[in-house]
Amino acid sequence: MYLAITTNMSIPTDKTLADQGVTQPHQIAELYVLVRTHFDAHFGNVHEESDWQLFRDRWLGRKSGVLKQITDYWLKPAKPALKSAVGAGLNELRAHVESQIEARRLAIESGAEESALLRERIDLSLPAVHRPVGSHHLIRQVFQEIEDIFVSIGFSVVEGPEIETPYYNFEALNIPEFHPVRDDMDTFYLELPKGAKTPLLLRTHTSPMQIRTMEKQKPPVRVIVPGKVYRRDNPDATHSFAFHQIEGLAVDTDITFCDFTGTIEYFVKQFFGPSVKTRFRPSYFPFTEPSVEFDVSCIFCGGSGAAVGGGTCSKCKGSAWIELFGAGMVDPAVYGFVKYDAKKLSGFAFGMGIDRLAMLKYGIDDIQVFFQNDVRFLRQFP
Ligand code: PHE
Repeated sequence: MYLAITTNMSIPTDKTLADQGVTQPHQIAELYVLVRTHFDAHFGNVHEESDWQLFRDRWLGRKSGVLKQITDYWLKPAKPALKSAVGAGLNELRAHVESQIEARRLAIESGAEESALLRERIDLSLPAVHRPVGSHHLIRQVFQEIEDIFVSIGFSVVEGPEIETPYYNFEALNIPEFHPVRDDMDTFYLELPKGAKTPLLLRTHTSPMQIRTMEKQKPPVRVIVPGKVYRRDNPDATHSFAFHQIEGLAVDTDITFCDFTGTIEYFVKQFFGPSVKTRFRPSYFPFTEPSVEFDVSCIFCGGSGAAVGGGTCSKCKGSAWIELFGAGMVDPAVYGFVKYDAKKLSGFAFGMGIDRLAMLKYGIDDIQVFFQNDVRFLRQFP
C-alpha cells in the first residue's frame, strides 16, 4: 500500500505544457482527466491514518505536492490563451482532491475510534483467566512433616551435596575400599578429566552428612539431613535409581540406646499415629554398632496380619510388621575420622527412605509415580 501511494506517478505534472506539446484546450481537459483518474485509483487504497498522511502530503504538500507542481509547471508558464483553461481545471481538481481527503480523514478517525472502543471494552460476563496455583510435591510435603517433628524435639535441619567423594560416602563411614557392603551401594561415578584428585560419585545415602557435620561442629550434635540419593537399582514398584532419605544424627556425652529408641518411637507415633507400635531387629551397618532395623506395626491391617475381608494382609504379607529404616548407635570407629573423642561421646544415627514412608502413609503402591510428574496424581495431594 505504501509503495502504491508513493512510487513515482505516471502523470506528467513536473513538465510544462509546452514541453509536453500541449497547445489545445481539449488536450488540457484530457490531462486533468488523467490526473484525476490517477488520484481516484490510488486513493481507493488509503484506509489507515499513516497512509492517509502520506497521500495528503503527496497531493497537497506546499512545496512539492502534485497540485503545487501543476501550479508551477502547467499554470504559471502557460501561454495566455491556455491559462484560464488550466486554472479552471486546477480549481476543479483541487476541490475534488481536498474534499476527498477531508472525507477520508473523518472516516478513518471515526473508524479507528470505533475499533479502539471495541478493543477496550471489558466484557464482565467472560470467565476469568484461570491461573493454576501449584503445590508442593508429596515428597516435599512429607519432608516438611518429618522436619517439623524433629525440629520440635531439638534437631536442626542441614543439607549436603549430592555429588560426593568416596571418602565421605564410604571410607569415613568405616566402609573401606573392598568392603562387601559397597556392592549394595554400587552407584553412578562421574566421568572426570584425567588427573582429577579424587573420583566423584552420586551419594548412595545421606550418611556422608554425618561426617561433614561432625567435621564442622563440636558436640553436641542433633541434626537431620533431608535429600536425594542415588543407587544403581532397576526401576520397579519399590525401586528407583533416585530416591529420598532423611538422615538423623545425635551425638553427645550421655546419649543411650534408650534415648535412641525413645526418639524413634516418638517420631513414628507422631508420623503414623499413636496406635502404631515399633520394634527393632538386629542388623548391620559398618558405621553403627549395634545396628538395627526398625519396623512399625502394619498400618494397613492394624498389626493383625489379616486382611479386612479375610485372608492375609497383602501389605505386610501377614507378618503384621513393616520394615521402616536402618539405624544404630554411632560406631566408635567413625568418631576417629572426625577427631571426636570416642571415649567420651556416644550417639545414634538413622536413615529413612522418604518415598517408602510416603507410600505407607498415603497408600501409594508404586514409587515411580513420584517421578512421573503426572498432574492427575500430584493433584490428589494439594
Ligand atoms: N545409610 C543407610 C542406608 O542408606 C541407613 C543408615 C543410616 C543406617 C544411619 C544406620 C545409620 O541404608
